[in-house]
Amino acid sequence: MKTTSRPQILFTPRRIRKRIREMVARIEADHRGEELVLIAVLKGSVLFLADLVRAFSRQLAFDFIGVSSYGASRSSLGVVTLEKEISSDIRGKSVLLVDDILDTGRTLGWIREHLRRFGPKQVRICVLLEKQRPRVIEVKADYAGFVIPDAFVYGYGLDFEDKFRHLPYIACLREGEAPPALRARGKPRLPRIFAPWKRSKGDR
Ligand code: PRP
Repeated sequence: MKTTSRPQILFTPRRIRKRIREMVARIEADHRGEELVLIAVLKGSVLFLADLVRAFSRQLAFDFIGVSSYGASRSSLGVVTLEKEISSDIRGKSVLLVDDILDTGRTLGWIREHLRRFGPKQVRICVLLEKQRPRVIEVKADYAGFVIPDAFVYGYGLDFEDKFRHLPYIACLREGEAPPALRARGKPRLPRIFAPWKRSKGDR
């Protein structure tokens, strides 16, 4: 597998932050007067959730759910199993299901059905990325940050072989490519503008 020399960045930290603020403004307007619980899907949504909740100016609660998908990821034969149950009481509350990416729809479709048994008032779906491809399970995001082509993306929670989730940006790979190597010690080899410890004034 060929390692790329530089990341092909789709969304910079600044663009992600701006989009999150816009999304939260809509979510707040749609949930006025309702008790709101965000349920984030482990592990990919963790960075998104952390930035999302900090953009709210109203009360909310959040919790996590963990699932595993077995079988071919691009086929309806894949089976979703529960790995970590929610620990909050969501009966009668508005639930916002938060995930990093909507792809086949199997994960969010399964979780949405699973949560209904706890009697929430409603379950809405919020994803940072929505892949432009036919869904295997019919799922529509109520809030979607960016629509992307059917490419492999990593960073900002999304993994490549369970690594690279910590990157502050979202990058994409072509078929047969691997992300650029990060240094074994010290700072990752990233473009200067994306190095948080050297953040320029304009990138706030
Ligand atoms: C990824 C992603 C979504 C799901 C989307 O999770 O975080 O939850 O796949 O794909 P789908 O729409 O085809 O179901 P993954 O199973 O890779 O686990 P992770 O969040 O731990 O990376």
